[in-house]
Amino acid sequence: MKAMSFEKIGGPEVLHLVDVPQPHAGPGQIRIAVRAAGVNPVDWKIRNGSTLRTIPVALPHIPGMEAAGVVDEVGAGVEGVSIGAEVFGAAQNASAEYAVLDEWAPKPPELTWAQAAGLAMAVETAARGLDLLGIVAGQKPWAGQELGAGQELGAGQEAATGSEPAGTTLLVNGAAGGVGLAVVQLAQARGARVIGTASRDNQEYLRSLGAVATDYGPGLVDRVRSLAPDGIDAALAVSGEGALPDLIALTGSPDRVVSIGDATAADHGVRFTTGAEGRAFYSLREAATLAAAGRLTMPVARALPLTELGEAHRLSEAGHVRGKFVVVLD
Ligand SMILES: NC(=O)c1ccc[n+]([C@@H]2O[C@H](COP(=O)([O-])OP(=O)(O)OC[C@H]3O[C@@H](n4cnc5c(N)ncnc54)[C@H](OP(=O)(O)O)[C@@H]3O)[C@@H](O)[C@H]2O)c1
Repeated sequence: MKAMSFEKIGGPEVLHLVDVPQPHAGPGQIRIAVRAAGVNPVDWKIRNGSTLRTIPVALPHIPGMEAAGVVDEVGAGVEGVSIGAEVFGAAQNASAEYAVLDEWAPKPPELTWAQAAGLAMAVETAARGLDLLGIVAGQKPWAGQELGAGQELGAGQEAATGSEPAGTTLLVNGAAGGVGLAVVQLAQARGARVIGTASRDNQEYLRSLGAVATDYGPGLVDRVRSLAPDGIDAALAVSGEGALPDLIALTGSPDRVVSIGDATAADHGVRFTTGAEGRAFYSLREAATLAAAGRLTMPVARALPLTELGEAHRLSEAGHVRGKFVVVLD
């Protein structure tokens, strides 16, 4: 099969098209004929070597941790999905004609292949962060409990009905990228009011989703206080470094802040989640249900042919995407 691969750590130019044997679904896995694969910052961080200490990579490596496509192999022990089903989910080497998925959900017909391909990583990360902050439907996060390092994952499994507005106000720093937009939409579906920061170009889009939008950067505390005079219950640091002191000042405690993107979190007593503590993959179905109801989507900033994966990495690395970059297959 055709795949995009790299043999050495380096810039986007190390990515090139190769012909490699097809992978096969092991127990508990499915294989898909890939229609589109999402591009995530971790893909280019692995490629350029910046994550070598935390995410070891065997070379050659086919990047891509998520995809959407048509099931063509079902591994032992897998139930509830058949050959020919249209799905999206989490993979290991998705920038290829075929990919093995470890976690998946049905692709809502309301989403294009490209939109569905970019969902899995963003949605799982978003749900994990919201669970750690206690943002579940019908519940104010700090009512009667303190958030601590032992907060259980999976609290949101019964959430996403959105039927009981919780009165929680969540601040999302870096709300316009893949994870940020998933946080905005999942949090609103769980009943929270969301204030999201973004560059001016992306603020109207955030408003169209129902969020309150403002600039990130200097002056954040004053801007957010004027938008939320009753205070901020919780904050998720998705993108941009340096905002954690402001997020702590706004929420009143480092325990009310979770970081997925600011690696200085520990210096501020803020929890940094990597997923090593558990992944919130149940949320793929939550997202599929919301997408089918027209309550969640993922804008595709640009869809490029598979062979232009290097350009997709370059665009992602520039750091100002609305939604996702994806590569598509014929
Ligand atoms: N810990 C984990 O488990 C985990 C999982 C997934 C991702 N991540 C990390 O989380 C980060 C976000 O991931 P992603 O997939 O959402 O990235 P992405 O899709 O590339 O989005 C990046 C976003 O950052 C925003 N941004 C740029 N500079 C900013 C600043 N100074 N302050 C606030 N926002 C800023 C941009 O918004 P504008 O265009 O509006 O400027 C852009 O939309 C990445 O560092 C990624 O590696 C961590």
